[in-house]
Amino acid sequence: MIEDWNGIADPRLVAERMLEGFADLPVLDCGPIAGGRGRLRAIYGMTTTESSFKSILGFGILLLAYEAGLLEPGQTVIESTSGSLGVSLALAGKILGNPIELVTDPNIPAITRRKIELLGAKLHIVSGPHPTGGTQQSRVELLEALLRERPGMHWTDQNNSDLNPAVYRRWLVPSVTPKLDLDWIDAAIFVVGTGGHFVGLSEMLRSKGIPCYVADRVGSATFGLEPGPSVLRGIGNMNCVPKVIGSAMHLVEDVYYSDDEEAAAGVRELAGRGIYAGGTSGIALQGAVKLVEATGARNILTFFPDRGDLYGDQFLGASPESELVRVGA
Ligand SMILES: Cc1ncc(COP(=O)(O)O)c(C=O)c1O
Repeated sequence: MIEDWNGIADPRLVAERMLEGFADLPVLDCGPIAGGRGRLRAIYGMTTTESSFKSILGFGILLLAYEAGLLEPGQTVIESTSGSLGVSLALAGKILGNPIELVTDPNIPAITRRKIELLGAKLHIVSGPHPTGGTQQSRVELLEALLRERPGMHWTDQNNSDLNPAVYRRWLVPSVTPKLDLDWIDAAIFVVGTGGHFVGLSEMLRSKGIPCYVADRVGSATFGLEPGPSVLRGIGNMNCVPKVIGSAMHLVEDVYYSDDEEAAAGVRELAGRGIYAGGTSGIALQGAVKLVEATGARNILTFFPDRGDLYGDQFLGASPESELVRVGA
């Protein structure tokens, strides 16, 4: 029984035990990059039961909200999600006894949508992208309308909540730091959506003198590019700069950009090394290559957010009709 996991009856202790398991991510060698001028190691965020590091955030952000007195037993939780955080919140809410409502868009992967439905969370799906702010903007507008109707709901607000990086400080950083071999790392590079895992990891790495870079997607306005659409989910922003990353710009040494096609090429490169990761991991790999080429740093640490299985063969080129299906096309 999930409610009495290993004989622990308190739901918050059950959730914390599961979270400790999710945060215990491996750090593995990915081989040479940039024609042998560099070498990559990655924290494998995709090795949770949900195949996404967002398992950590969903559980952690609810537990910290309880600790801070922001969330009550039985209170409904609402969030905007491209999918993966939604699955994690749906499971955490089920264990903790908080009904979960999620605002998402029609491009949510079918498998992710079905998992959320089976966990019993309620999905609100926007009809399409906002003309300039994309699906992120249409989702947040629907979420705000729902909150006006039912202000008693708790909005976890992953983009702007201090609890987002606090989750990684509390659970991820202590569990992966002993596995990192800090002396080996010349530089680190991470992708950014909200900035949560970038901030948690970069604070620690910079305190050890390791410079930290961002791998972002073309069409992300987070660091000043013109906003534009992408097939990638969870990375970049078209409608805002989340407070989580906006208040931590001092941690960002520089930003390297790659587009959807480069992301897909990165996914295929990783698959050829036996690492089946999602599209944002392709951006992380390409960013690491550009970092080596631009700075001469050799040993690079990155973070792979999720597994390729969540996206079927979208980035693999297994069938022409499934490859790189465009947002809203
Ligand atoms: C697949 C994927 N990659 C990257 C990110 C970005 O992570 P963060 O929000 O910690 O910046 C997310 C966030 O949802 C994601 O789902």
